[in-house]
Amino acid sequence: MAGIQIKNIVKKYGDGFPAVNDVSIDIADGEFVILVGPSGCGKSTLLRMIVGLEDITSGDMMIGDKRVNDLAPRDRNLAMVFQNYALYPHLTVYENIAFPLRLAGASDSEVDAKVKEASKTLELDEHLQRKPGNLSGGQRQRVAMGRAIVRDADAFLFDEPLSNLDAKLRGQMRSEIARLQKKLGITTVYVTHDQTEAMTLGDRVAVLKRGVLQQLASPRELYENPGNLFVAGFIGSPPMNFLPAEVEGTSVKLPFGTVEIPADKAEKAAGRGLLIAGIRPEAFEDASLVDEARAGGSTFSGKVEFVEWLGSETYAYLPFEAPPEVVKQLEQLEKDLDGDSLRTQLVISLDGASRVREGDQAEIWVDTSKMHLFDPATGENLTVDLSNAGRIPALDSGVPA
Ligand SMILES: Nc1ncnc2c1ncn2[C@@H]1O[C@H](COP(=O)(O)OP(=O)(O)O)[C@@H](O)[C@H]1O
Ligand SMILES: [Mg+2]
Repeated sequence: MAGIQIKNIVKKYGDGFPAVNDVSIDIADGEFVILVGPSGCGKSTLLRMIVGLEDITSGDMMIGDKRVNDLAPRDRNLAMVFQNYALYPHLTVYENIAFPLRLAGASDSEVDAKVKEASKTLELDEHLQRKPGNLSGGQRQRVAMGRAIVRDADAFLFDEPLSNLDAKLRGQMRSEIARLQKKLGITTVYVTHDQTEAMTLGDRVAVLKRGVLQQLASPRELYENPGNLFVAGFIGSPPMNFLPAEVEGTSVKLPFGTVEIPADKAEKAAGRGLLIAGIRPEAFEDASLVDEARAGGSTFSGKVEFVEWLGSETYAYLPFEAPPEVVKQLEQLEKDLDGDSLRTQLVISLDGASRVREGDQAEIWVDTSKMHLFDPATGENLTVDLSNAGRIPALDSGVPA
């Protein structure tokens, strides 16, 4: 096993466009790192440069202590676990797992020992004599991983392995992969455009936008301390709300009224004029359900246009007006995120016990300690807590992303 160091990696295709632009990621031995971002942001290109399927334009790719830029894929000792599993239908599970060992000319006894060990770990013992066609998707995935395990690969690489599966199977496979990765402790790099997969699978997540690394952090850090509008909008479902905001002292003027924010937050955003406030849906609550103990936030009144009751929670939708500067930035954000939802409405998640109904002028409480304030020009999160935000490359060099 080995760690992987991606150092200032650039990839320019024929037309000179940098599909991957100066990306640096340090992956520890045994770590599970996710590369995530909208379609076309360079995830697959980066993964393919790690494995050796794509030439590197500049930068250093290190596996263990070795620079591998000029090594052929087979000399890098990595295992790409393909989406279609690439299993041989006419071979048994046993022979599918054994395949790389047979290719390398291993003795029958060595093959047998390694295949048995892998099948035990992967719980495939009862299936060794079956053909892949008779297996479930999850079992096939495990066979593909078995083939990678017997090679003693230094790392596993996955490129959107679950994207063709239905939602239920995807959920099962996700937990399966997470469980096996922990059990095997093999360094893993996993590409996905799905933020849920990114949040649930990885030790750390690298968020990419147009070839540029935006933030490298744990799922929790990304969720609580996004470095910019892009990361804030990409991570979380339903997404973070973005509202026009003007800060004066510790007061923030929002479309629904003025709320109070903690002094340290206000200080970071002072004198900046029109900003974009970011507040996640769950930072809101029906004011009538908030007890004294939680009364640290602020209350405002808003017209509820639409309500979805889901039992444990209630989503309420409150439309608002935003000035053109903010609308323009949010439209750009939608484009960057490959999204299509209209964002000049507040989406809030209330307790299922809430009696708020369509058409109500509702009293809403908001935990303003959870509010972020973004610079509308650069998208930078002015209120980010840097000690809990992992790495934000744009701040390394002082140049906003
Ligand atoms: N073989 C190629 N030739 C030219 N451009 C490419 C090639 N492969 C990918 N690209 C471009 O590089 C960018 C990143 O692509 P890719 O790494 O496939 O993104 P992702 O996997 O994040 O969807 C895209 O703009 C894509 O059009
Ligand atoms: Mg891809």
